[in-house]
Amino acid sequence: MEIGIKNGSPDKQRGACVVVGIFESRKPSAAAASLDQAANGYLADILRRGDMDGKPGSTLLLHKVPGIKTERVLLVGLGKERDLREKPWRDATRAAMKALSDAGIADAVFCLADLPVKKRDLTWRVEQSVLIAADVFYRFERMKSKPDESARPLRKLTVLVSARASVAEAETGAARGRAIAAGVGLAKDLGNLPGNVCTPSYLADQARALAKECGLGIEVLDRADIEKLGMGSFLSVAKGSDEPPRFLILSHKGGDRKQKPVVLVGKGITFDSGGISLKPAAEMDEMKYDMCGAASVLGALRAIAELKLPLNVTGLIPTCENLPSGRANKPGDVVTSMSGQTIEILNTDAEGRLILCDALTYAEKLDPACVVDIATLTGACVIALGHVATGLLANDDGLARELLDAGDAAADRCWQLPLWDDYQELLKSNFADMANIGGRAGGTITAACFLSKFAGKYHWAHLDIAGTAWKSGKDKGGTGRPVPLLVHFLTERAKKS
Ligand code: BES
Ligand code: MN
Ligand code: ZN
Repeated sequence: MEIGIKNGSPDKQRGACVVVGIFESRKPSAAAASLDQAANGYLADILRRGDMDGKPGSTLLLHKVPGIKTERVLLVGLGKERDLREKPWRDATRAAMKALSDAGIADAVFCLADLPVKKRDLTWRVEQSVLIAADVFYRFERMKSKPDESARPLRKLTVLVSARASVAEAETGAARGRAIAAGVGLAKDLGNLPGNVCTPSYLADQARALAKECGLGIEVLDRADIEKLGMGSFLSVAKGSDEPPRFLILSHKGGDRKQKPVVLVGKGITFDSGGISLKPAAEMDEMKYDMCGAASVLGALRAIAELKLPLNVTGLIPTCENLPSGRANKPGDVVTSMSGQTIEILNTDAEGRLILCDALTYAEKLDPACVVDIATLTGACVIALGHVATGLLANDDGLARELLDAGDAAADRCWQLPLWDDYQELLKSNFADMANIGGRAGGTITAACFLSKFAGKYHWAHLDIAGTAWKSGKDKGGTGRPVPLLVHFLTERAKKS
C-alpha cells in the first residue's frame, strides 16, 4: 500500500473516492462542508433526508456526486462533535477502511486525519490512519491454493491535511505508521503460519532473512550450542520434540558503540500441546500462536531498522515445540537452569517460563540497559484483562511507566499487575529451588514471579500477551500486538539516550 501526504482542499481531489466525516446529528465536518459547497448543497440534502445521521461507525457511499471529481464520496459518522475522542475517531477510521475494502476501492483520499482529536496530534492521527488501513486490508493467503479474487487491495491511501497543517508532522506519522505496519504484518504472518510450517528452524531462517534485509546482526545457536551454555531448563522442553530447538540473537546497532542495549526477549514456542500435561483438544490449534512473543520481537526489530532508530537493541528468541513423547518432561522432573537454580516441573504446560528463564540469564551477558520479555504466557491473563490490555509486570517502576505510556501512545495498551513478594511463596517446592507453577490463583503474577528470579540483575519488565496477540472466533488471526507498543517504547528510549 502506497501512503501519500497531501496539502489541499477535499473538493479538488481526483481518484476513486474521497472520505469525509459527518458529526451527530447530521453536521458536516469542514472537509464535508467544502465538498458540499462544490456540490451545490447535494450532501446537505442527503443529510437533511436522514440517510446519514453521523452516528459513530456508520458509513454511506455515494457515487457520481455532482461537482466532485472523485468517482465516489464516502461519508463516515463521527458521533458528537464536542470533544471528539480517540475511541470514536479510531472506530470511524476503521469503519471507513472497512467500507473501502467492501467496495473494493483501490485508491482513496482520506480526510479524517485532519480532524482535531482530544490530546492526539497530527502525527498520531496520521500514524493511526496508516496502521488501521494496513490492519483492515491485511490478508493471509499463503496457505490457500488460490488467492481470494474478491479481496481487492487498497493500492494508494492519500492522507489529506488542510493548508494550515504541518506536512512535516504528517510525514513523521506516515513514516512511523509505515514502519510499524511492516513490523505488525511480519508478526501477523509468522503467527498465522501453522505449526508444521513455522517450526523453530523456520523461525531461524526468517530471522536470518530479516537480518540480511534490514542490516541486523544475527547469530543462530543450535542444540549443541545451547547445551554448552547450560540452558538445562530450555532444553528440557525442547527434548520432547523431534524438531530441533534454536536460540536466536539479533542486534540492531543504531546507537553509540558503548551504549548498553535494550534487550527484548520473545517466547518462541511454535506449538504448545501442553506436553505430558496435555491440553484439551478444543481450540488447541490456537497454540500455534505461542510464538507470538518471538514474532513481536522480529516485528519490532524490522520497524526500528526501517526507522533507523539511534539505539542499540538486541532480540533474544528461545524457540522450540512443547510436545508429549518418551523424551518429554514429566510432572515431578527437576531440571537445572543456566543460572544454576533448580526447578521442579509440576506442570509441563507451564513451559514458556522454562524457556524464558534461560534467555533471561543469557541477557546478563549483554550488560543490558533493561530487558523486556514478551510472551503468550498465561491463560489467567486472558481472564484478568480480556483481549484489550496486555499484562505488564516489572521489577522497576520507571520501566513500567515507560511501557504504560508507550502502550497509550501507540493505542496498544498494557496494564500493570503487582509483583509483590507476597506472591513469591506460592512457588515453593519440596524438592527443588522452586516449582514452575503456583496454583490457579493469581496465575499471571506467579508466572512473572518465577521469571523475576532470573531477572534480578537488571531492570526488567514482562509483557503477557496471551489475550492480545491473536483473535479467536470468525476473525481468527494474529494481531501483531505488541509491536506498536514496543516501537513507541524504543522510540522514546532513543530520544533519551
Ligand atoms: N501458552 C500457554 C498460555 C496460553 C493459554 C496463552 C491460553 C493463550 C491462551 C502457556 O504455555 C500455558 O499453557 N500456561 C498455563 C500455565 C499453567 C499450567 C500454570 C495456563 O495458562 O494454563
Ligand atoms: Mn503451555
Ligand atoms: Zn505456552
